[in-house]
Amino acid sequence: MCGIIGIITSERDQTGSDRVLDTVVEGLERLEYRGYDSAGVAVIDPERKTGLWRARAANGTRSLEDLVKQMEDAPRGSPAGIGHTRWATHGRPDEHNAHPHVDCTGRLALVHNGIIENHVELADELIAGGHRLVSETDTEVLAHLIEAAIVANPEARLEDAVRVALARVEGAFALAVIHAAWPDEIVAARRVSPLLMGVSDDHAFLASDVPAILGLTRDFFILEDDRVAVLTPGSLRVTDLDGNEVEPPRLHVDWDLDAARRDGYDDYMSKEMAEQPEAIANTLRDRVLPDGTLVLDEVHITDAEFQAINKVFIVACGSSYHAGLMAKYAIEHWARIPVEIDIASEFRYRNPVLDAQTLVIGVSQSGETVDTFQAIREAAAQGAKVLVISNVVDSSMARESDAVLYTRAGPELGVAATKTHIAQITALEILALYLAQARHQLTPADARALLAHMDVLPEKVARVLERSHAVHEVAERFRDSSAFIFLGRHVGYPVALEGALKLKELSYLRAEGFPAGELKHGPIALVEPGTVVIGVATRTPVWDKMMSNIAEVKSRGASIVLVANDGDEETARHADAVLWVPETEHLFAPIVDVVALQQFAYSMARIHGLDVDRPRNLAKVVTVE
Ligand code: G6P
Repeated sequence: MCGIIGIITSERDQTGSDRVLDTVVEGLERLEYRGYDSAGVAVIDPERKTGLWRARAANGTRSLEDLVKQMEDAPRGSPAGIGHTRWATHGRPDEHNAHPHVDCTGRLALVHNGIIENHVELADELIAGGHRLVSETDTEVLAHLIEAAIVANPEARLEDAVRVALARVEGAFALAVIHAAWPDEIVAARRVSPLLMGVSDDHAFLASDVPAILGLTRDFFILEDDRVAVLTPGSLRVTDLDGNEVEPPRLHVDWDLDAARRDGYDDYMSKEMAEQPEAIANTLRDRVLPDGTLVLDEVHITDAEFQAINKVFIVACGSSYHAGLMAKYAIEHWARIPVEIDIASEFRYRNPVLDAQTLVIGVSQSGETVDTFQAIREAAAQGAKVLVISNVVDSSMARESDAVLYTRAGPELGVAATKTHIAQITALEILALYLAQARHQLTPADARALLAHMDVLPEKVARVLERSHAVHEVAERFRDSSAFIFLGRHVGYPVALEGALKLKELSYLRAEGFPAGELKHGPIALVEPGTVVIGVATRTPVWDKMMSNIAEVKSRGASIVLVANDGDEETARHADAVLWVPETEHLFAPIVDVVALQQFAYSMARIHGLDVDRPRNLAKVVTVE
């Protein structure tokens, strides 16, 4: 969830600027979607007594940048630096708890993403040993453990001391350390939380994620679990926890920095929503042979193994969970396999019944959400086949699965998932059709007919996007409402859940999604004059039942907004306002319908003057439990 970056160089800039300091601060801005409670930087500075210079600020990287500009003692020409943008877990999101953290000498600085689970016990031990811990974070113990290892063995190299410290910690980490006594190296280590590295002639760098260092390289090395890396200008060396040298896997990234910029849009979210037709088209591309057969090149589970599958589990979090819920209907309908779906954090700890004939599908745009990652690990440990749907090539989850189906949405930097969500639904629908064919539940002719419906989805989504102005007007009408209930049935139900999630995360308004049929078992008690009910009322086989549920809330004084198919005046008659969408084959309808609700949430947040890209308390990538 937090973002970390580090850079080391042999070039010393004499121009008065500082390449290391500037590069770290700029990189942090591009990592900010991972967390933005506070930010900080530390660089080697031979001019200072401790050999280190550090700046930290609450309120994210913009405050840090301003602070660094104002600080007259900011160093020039430092050889190495590390930075951090934080999503607070332990300790308030203030400057005092911001990373980098230092040891008692002030000569060692460290940034960390993850959680040190045994930090309380380690802190007690360190304090008893005379260390002075000054923050409320779990991270600070790491700095002091490394310090203690250096004191215990003055011959040790920094990497050796890091290994000794890591042997004591439980939990997840991606960390980077600099020390004034070793000004020409950065030591990094990883367990669970991701870390990428790159090397150029005079530099070496590391980051939690591609955008931070994409301007410096397109060829990355992946630091795997329980590895320690030593970065020096122009080179890097990776070892395991015993110090044996290992070759890190490589990753080439095709997209460039432009893909991670706003391109004239007001915010990332509007840019990313506008890219949804392309995300669908790219995700569909090359998946279908001219004869209509589906080919999933990245899936390395044989047809025979697919035929033997008798149960599917889907595990995911947030919007990815909603995409999985939409897929449940499609897989059961077309492939006739029972599908269970779980929030990943629940699946992990409930002792699910799995075997070699179970297919576990992990859905995660980032491919690193810790709960989903650990859920698929649990599934693999129990012998299930694991397939991952991810937007990030070679992500942690992709690398640990039997098969991968990539969504090709491009980088998504807005915290609220939009184009990656749409691409996930697309990929899952393709997978449903694939499973149906592999299990001979669908003839090639039927598959071809369905695929023809999929081919026009980009165009239909583009039509919804063109109506953003009309959606904005509906949001304006209900701008002062404080309670929203989203209703849907069948595939409209997960659409309702996603619509409610988007509205609450972006606008901080009370918004809950329910299956419309469940309403009378409790939620209807919430309905009173002034409540806004948003119903997914596009034409499906359960449309008439949905309309009965709408009548129930209307008669209790709710204002009604309906997502309805173009030209469907019969539905519109029951609504105070309509969000119009083109009609499509009903199992694909979520791809089109959810876009109208994304736009509604976006407009509402803008109307209330909120930052749509950085909603409060949230982070894009959740690497803590
Ligand atoms: C966070 C993000 C959501 C996302 C969820 C799952 O909560 O803010 O937008 O849906 O994580 O992320 P994943 O990367 O696993 O899809």
